[in-house]
Amino acid sequence: MTDLIPIQFHVNGRPVTTRVPTDLALLDFLQEELGLSGTRMCCGIGVCKACTVAARRVPGAQAQPMLACSTPVALLQGQSITTVEGTGSLEKPSAVQMAFLEHFAFQCGYCTPGFVMATEMLLGRLRAQPVRRDQLDAAIEAAVGQHVCRCTGYVRYHQAIRAVVLAEKGLVIA
Ligand code: FES
Ligand code: FES
Repeated sequence: MTDLIPIQFHVNGRPVTTRVPTDLALLDFLQEELGLSGTRMCCGIGVCKACTVAARRVPGAQAQPMLACSTPVALLQGQSITTVEGTGSLEKPSAVQMAFLEHFAFQCGYCTPGFVMATEMLLGRLRAQPVRRDQLDAAIEAAVGQHVCRCTGYVRYHQAIRAVVLAEKGLVIA
């Protein structure tokens, strides 16, 4: 019989207290236990980044990308996880979601939650540490350059991310 590990953490601001097997992936927990189906399983081996969520390891820390397909829930004690459902909704889409829609950034949309999360974390980093305008493309590349889109929407994603960064005051310095 598998040992169950007691754990407490937060998902989209809500406390989660549970006991989990040591090998239960965060992605499976989000989808099957919390009903959060927005985070996508694609490669399942940590390559494509479709399953990216944001993790704050301690309160107030900058959110870091976490691959939900290959992160055991048992390791998340005390952390705060944000999924795509925590960034906006159908009724109230986020600025990032609106930019992706307005730029026709995606086609099938399977990779989109991962791009949304990576862009949200980029915005967070730029709020803390703005970049020069000539550094923006490199910052975007660093944020989403490893995300795989099988519909090859990279150019439009890049354009949408650029637009949403430039639309917010103070993220880019002249
Ligand atoms: S599904 Fe997690 S990296 Fe591809
Ligand atoms: S929009 Fe289809 S995989 Fe990216």
